[in-house]
Amino acid sequence: MTGSAPSADLDETTLTDATIASFGDTPDPRLRNCLSILVKHLHAAIREMEPTLDEWERAVEFLTATGHTCDDTRQEFVLLSDVLGVSSLVENINHRKSSGATEATVLGPFHMTESPRRELGASIDEVGKAEPCLVTGRVLSADGTPLARASVDVWQADEDGFYDVQRPDVLPPGNGRGLFTTDDEGRFRFSTVVPSHYPIPTDGPVGQLLLATNRHPYRPAHIHFIATADGHSPVTTHIFVADSPYLESDAVFAVKSSLIREFQRIDDAEESARHGLAGPFAHAEIDLVLEPARGRESA
Ligand code: BEZ
Ligand code: FE
Repeated sequence: MTGSAPSADLDETTLTDATIASFGDTPDPRLRNCLSILVKHLHAAIREMEPTLDEWERAVEFLTATGHTCDDTRQEFVLLSDVLGVSSLVENINHRKSSGATEATVLGPFHMTESPRRELGASIDEVGKAEPCLVTGRVLSADGTPLARASVDVWQADEDGFYDVQRPDVLPPGNGRGLFTTDDEGRFRFSTVVPSHYPIPTDGPVGQLLLATNRHPYRPAHIHFIATADGHSPVTTHIFVADSPYLESDAVFAVKSSLIREFQRIDDAEESARHGLAGPFAHAEIDLVLEPARGRESA
């Protein structure tokens, strides 16, 4: 503790300043500033809530259980940040774009395995029991220039709302995932299935929190993308299915109206044949617009 911070006889009115002062010798100014802000607001919240000792013990137990639920493939703290709206807030703060670039949204926990590299036009659906869906688009720079040889990483839940890693006994690894490289005109395309809405994991402390607060756990149907190109800032985003349930009440607050797309049904044999598909299909389109990188951000 720094010399100026009183350490005895602290009361409700002096404790906050004393705690902030205790970080006064932190060499990293950013860390010092963030800890001061955190203590200021945390103490203000506690002062406003006036928890009983019992309630505080329960809060600590909740955080302990959250930690115990984490392992190499499960990050319950990220899920907690998601349902508290913090993940989306951090995204929004870090992507205040004005140039018409594609809006970013949360990464989520299911980008946990590497997507298999696939040829343009390939299917990421390795099961083949639902009607196909064609997704097409371009990767563009903010001024509209197409970005050739950009990388487009895609992952999604299937028509029943499951990622491959959630049903390893039923779904082949890599199902619903693909890593594509854009062509000379910045275009990409792949076939898949229209994803379903699905619940975020509810078998841990975050699920208990949702239950205790009468909140549903669902995310509207979406496909995840990360687009990366030389000299540009990557974007992590989704497209949302226009008529999906829960667009108005995403459990993780990540919907942006600019990312909602019609998945238009096409029942035209010639069109199907043109895309190498056997019958009617849905079609969605998204251009992924990247901002030129500032400074050292370039890929
Ligand atoms: C997801 O979209 O994969 C996701 C995002 C946040 C929490 C849970 C799932
Ligand atoms: Fe998802």
